[in-house]
Amino acid sequence: MLCSPHRCGTSGLLGYYLLDAASLLPVLALNARPDHRVLDLCAAPGGKTLALLLEGCRYLVANDASVSHTNRLRRVLQSYVPRELRTEERVRLTSWDGAEWPEEAAYDRVLVDAPCTADRHSLLQEENNIFHRIRRKERQRLPLLQTQLLLSGLRAAVPGGDVVYATCTLSALQNECVVEGALRRAAEEFGIGAEVQDLRCFQEIFKKTFNFQQDCRLGALVMPHLTANYGPLYLCKLRRLH
Ligand SMILES: C[S@@+](CC[C@H](N)C(=O)[O-])C[C@H]1O[C@@H](n2cnc3c(N)ncnc32)[C@H](O)[C@@H]1O
Repeated sequence: MLCSPHRCGTSGLLGYYLLDAASLLPVLALNARPDHRVLDLCAAPGGKTLALLLEGCRYLVANDASVSHTNRLRRVLQSYVPRELRTEERVRLTSWDGAEWPEEAAYDRVLVDAPCTADRHSLLQEENNIFHRIRRKERQRLPLLQTQLLLSGLRAAVPGGDVVYATCTLSALQNECVVEGALRRAAEEFGIGAEVQDLRCFQEIFKKTFNFQQDCRLGALVMPHLTANYGPLYLCKLRRLH
């Protein structure tokens, strides 16, 4: 049986949202200030969108290609965020293909929390599993889609702006290789320069809570561990230079 979180006081809002603690890391790494324009390119069901709003984000576009997922995201925001903090000026919900995102150099911060093989979920979930034979083509196309999404994110960021790419898989093909591919294509196809930011200080802060992979080539990877059972969660922070 699924239990609803308790409603809080007289506000009617739900009191808590269950989330893998590692899912907060991409939002914290993004380091959005309240005056930043923020794009959450793959936002549904909305755990990280909630965290962004909790951080004080005031100009947020939350997008998801799936209309049903966007509707779910809307319901999540209605259930957890006071009405005055989700006015149309503050939070705009869209349902576009993030790989074809039309705005260029428009956001100070971009979160690309890409669809992936979602390894923990796939281990536990029988129904509609991404590793099922009938979803093989979709699975094989993931790295290309992820690269296109990250490329869109880099194009949407202003020069000097930051983009965080995140997945919940251990697969290097969906993680580091996607970052390398997107950086190469950004330079070759759009003349966009970007560089990977060093996350060692960031990891240092959280090393007692999360089990980070040693020597992750680009970015950081939270490895599930018996004593710290979070993740997997990959994140890589990129700064657009020009
Ligand atoms: C890992 S989930 C995002 C989780 C979300 N950020 C959160 O914290 O709750 C990936 C999402 O990407 C969406 N998606 C898949 N393809 C997309 C595309 N081409 N453009 C935008 N969103 C896409 C999926 O519908 C899915 O909701």
